[in-house]
Amino acid sequence: MTTTNIDVATTVGQLVTERPARSRVFQELGIDFCCGGKKPLQEACHAKGLDPQAVLQMLLAAEQADDSQGLDAARLSLGELCDHIEQTHHAYLKQELPRLQAMIAKVAAVHGERCPWMRDVHEVFEPFMRELTSHMMKEEQVLFPMIRAMELGKTNAACHCGGTIANPIRMMEHEHDDAGDALRRLRELTDGYSPPADACNTFRAALDGLRELEADMHQHVHKENNVLFPRAMDHESQQMAAGKS
Ligand SMILES: [Fe+2]
Ligand SMILES: [Fe+2]
Repeated sequence: MTTTNIDVATTVGQLVTERPARSRVFQELGIDFCCGGKKPLQEACHAKGLDPQAVLQMLLAAEQADDSQGLDAARLSLGELCDHIEQTHHAYLKQELPRLQAMIAKVAAVHGERCPWMRDVHEVFEPFMRELTSHMMKEEQVLFPMIRAMELGKTNAACHCGGTIANPIRMMEHEHDDAGDALRRLRELTDGYSPPADACNTFRAALDGLRELEADMHQHVHKENNVLFPRAMDHESQQMAAGKS
């Protein structure tokens, strides 16, 4: 991923306008990038008692730490793959969903009159977030522990859940489809996450956050639907075949 040249004289608002993902660093540090966006980075940092060079490094790091693109999910063990999904995609969603929820609610309330589609975005996002949070909990508390135990040979998954592991997997896949429908609707409503020309930085950051969420969900669901789940079902079939022989 390429990084742009940025320096401490650039205003905070400009930095977020160029790369809305930088809003995450500013939110973490409590730097106001919306109404206080006209301040140069140096001045905004001094006001908070922060080292501008250190903040600059954080901004660059945020651009580079974009994803686990280099990861070869197929080479991990089933347990390692569950760990990876929890530590990257689930951790990201747990941090990002409440941040996006707050921004979307704010933009829908402030700009809903002029951009009524943001109210629809808000209405789609709320149940999407609730369902996704419950979905992750089911994976972390039920399905992933079953997969880890099965791989270690501690339990036969088919006995443990009163049926095959394919049943909870089918349920998770169905929920992935629902999440995919919600994401498609969000993309449609926002015309591909395009902010109005005069949108404020919070508006831009909310839509950019949704675009990133969509990209991360695509990776996340791919690793579950296309790598973890088929391998777990294969493992169970082999285990059952070995048990019969
Ligand atoms: Fe997941
Ligand atoms: Fe999932």
